[in-house]
Amino acid sequence: MQVIETIGDFRRARAAFGRLGLVPTMGYLHEGHLSLVRQARATCGAVAVSIFVNPTQFGPQEDFATYPRDTERDMRLLRSAPTDLVFVPTVSTMYPQGFASLVEVAGVTEVLEGAARPGHFRGVATVVCKLLNIVQPTHAFFGQKDAQQVVVIQTMVRDLNLPTEVVVGPTVREPDGLAMSSRNTYLSPPERQAATVLYRALVAAQQRYAQGVREGEAMRQTMHQVLDREPLARTDYVSVADPRTLQELDAVGDQGALLSMAVFIGTTRLIDALLLSEP
Ligand code: PAF
Repeated sequence: MQVIETIGDFRRARAAFGRLGLVPTMGYLHEGHLSLVRQARATCGAVAVSIFVNPTQFGPQEDFATYPRDTERDMRLLRSAPTDLVFVPTVSTMYPQGFASLVEVAGVTEVLEGAARPGHFRGVATVVCKLLNIVQPTHAFFGQKDAQQVVVIQTMVRDLNLPTEVVVGPTVREPDGLAMSSRNTYLSPPERQAATVLYRALVAAQQRYAQGVREGEAMRQTMHQVLDREPLARTDYVSVADPRTLQELDAVGDQGALLSMAVFIGTTRLIDALLLSEP
């Protein structure tokens, strides 16, 4: 496994591979990332992982400074995954003095996480565009848990004709349903227990759908009711949206629906999502 910090060295190392899958991460790896690494190897035969806590996707009041980091542990996990190339750029490698170009994806960034976190997806699209240009992977792998991020990146790759195939891996969950996330580490033991409410709310709405309910508002209410019963939870939003446009649905039709939510558990803001498709 080669661990590389500079763009020039990375490009030289990359030249040894044909098909290459990239798993972009912010480190503090968990099974969700490792399942994408395995999927990348199965699809491409060779895997690159980037580890970069990207400052431009954090708001001024957000957790950039305290975002969990443990490079040694990450390297251990990647070595046994296994991984061929690891790209660990510094902030000044990615954003040198004079850096002035940003990638703005309109429409799908203006709702949900984009409305709650202004500028977040500009930072995500910019850094992912840069990583795709540096790594030049044939495929790039993202988790379904960050469902809106997936739509934003798919839109950017399509609109800018980037020659990479975007592959989406399933959300990896703890045995009690909590979606794996580096931010779960912020939760105290009682908060960790309470955090299962996100998945319980998604499943409750999914069950209503299975029973034949199609009204978006009825499913949003079901999720609210489950979340409201958890004293440590404060709901930021719940959504039943078109999976491509991310616009709220009055009724779920042939397009299916993306159920998603952001919920504060104590001071930790967690997101989760579940895709409904026509049975
Ligand atoms: O999902 C993440 O970890 C980040 O948003 C990403 C895609 C690595 C960009 O910084």
